[in-house]
Amino acid sequence: MAGATESIHGMWSSRIMFILAATGSAVGLGNIWKFPYITGENGGGAFVLVYLGCVVLIGIPIMMAEVLLGREGRQSPINTMLALAERSGRSRHWQLLGWVGALAGFLILSYYGVIAGWAMAYVFKTGSGALVGADAGVAEGLFSAFTGNVWEVLFWQVVFMCLTIFIVARGVGQGLEMAVKYLMPALFVLLLVLVGYATTTGHFGEGLAFLFDFNFGKLTWEAVLVAMGHAFFTLSLGMATMMAYGSYMPRESSILGTVAIIAVLDTVVALLAGMAIFPVVFANGLEGSAGPGLMFITLPLAFGKMGAAGQFFGTVFFVLVSFAAITSAISLVEPAAAWAVEKFKITRVRAAVTIGAIAWLLGLGTVFSSNIWVDVFFLGERNFFDSVDFLTAQFMLPLGGMLISLFAGWFLDRQIPRDQMSETHPLLFNAWVFAARFIAPVAVFIVFVMALF
Ligand code: PHE
Repeated sequence: MAGATESIHGMWSSRIMFILAATGSAVGLGNIWKFPYITGENGGGAFVLVYLGCVVLIGIPIMMAEVLLGREGRQSPINTMLALAERSGRSRHWQLLGWVGALAGFLILSYYGVIAGWAMAYVFKTGSGALVGADAGVAEGLFSAFTGNVWEVLFWQVVFMCLTIFIVARGVGQGLEMAVKYLMPALFVLLLVLVGYATTTGHFGEGLAFLFDFNFGKLTWEAVLVAMGHAFFTLSLGMATMMAYGSYMPRESSILGTVAIIAVLDTVVALLAGMAIFPVVFANGLEGSAGPGLMFITLPLAFGKMGAAGQFFGTVFFVLVSFAAITSAISLVEPAAAWAVEKFKITRVRAAVTIGAIAWLLGLGTVFSSNIWVDVFFLGERNFFDSVDFLTAQFMLPLGGMLISLFAGWFLDRQIPRDQMSETHPLLFNAWVFAARFIAPVAVFIVFVMALF
């Protein structure tokens, strides 16, 4: 039996729509908020190079595998894995991959909603002018006062989660299409404005050197694991998001070409964010290793120095970051939502509300992480937020990605990838097969083992 040509959940109207949606999923807090702060914590240069290497050697082949499986299965990831495993004469247990993915989606969404809430709060903080002319002390003070206030953080988390649920419930239609079509390019332009400002700080060279001077002496295996985990996180891989999105992708589009575009756009946005943030860090005597608050302290400082124009740009910037976060958040819900609709024959609205409510509840742990639970540790020395982040980005996503790659490379009926990528040059196709069978899974395995011991 050949794969279905359409999914019951709907279809992207064109290849461009798929690119926009998948880029919307990939580009999010991971690029603008997380990439700079983990780069700062892990010493820059060498860390960035490892991350880039992982995107190319592990990320791209795995994203291709996910899209291909999804487009062949045309169902929620759980049922797609089940159906494809059966068709290939393999164990039904492969569907576990879909389950782990859905679980990772809940966990990531739980803290994603909180940080996205911070970004929404900052729309109003920059808009009010409170940060015009601010120095480092003021920006830091404002951030810690805000995150230290449970009620304020909770309020914005609720607002963000409601918006996300609303959009998922409506289905991936007009609203989302508009958001990615206009707001993503706008975000890109504003990032360029910020990089432009960064060149005037007198510390641009220092920022660039921090990002790109490849000093491997400082690099630990733990940092390599963080970099690899981030490649998964930022490309939305390892939890079947791209499988779910791929299931709505029209048959004609080339998988390799499409995936390459998404990976390039995602990487460019992350590098621009780094180039905007680090010069400001050095110019103001801040610490690059400031942690999750890095973006919320540095960028308001940069905007603050631009006077009234900065107040305007700052407000717009945080609006755009919030949108980038929404287009990612909905993709965290999609795999579980599609499954719930298939399994229980419920409406998308009920599925979205239920899933969103569970993620919201879990997210309370992250809300508390910056105030009443600052000193409460879960996994090792990690607070709740760090524990969930560690468990997902550094464990569940790479593991899920490795298994997806192994399944597509070794266990899937050989004819399926050939058909799905029939337009791809045989050389490139074979390169993908090799990467999916060997490079990606072996690389993940080595990093796991080295980081563990
Ligand atoms: N890629 C998103 C980001 O960088 C986060 C994400 C991870 C979304 C996994 C979906 C799945 O912000």
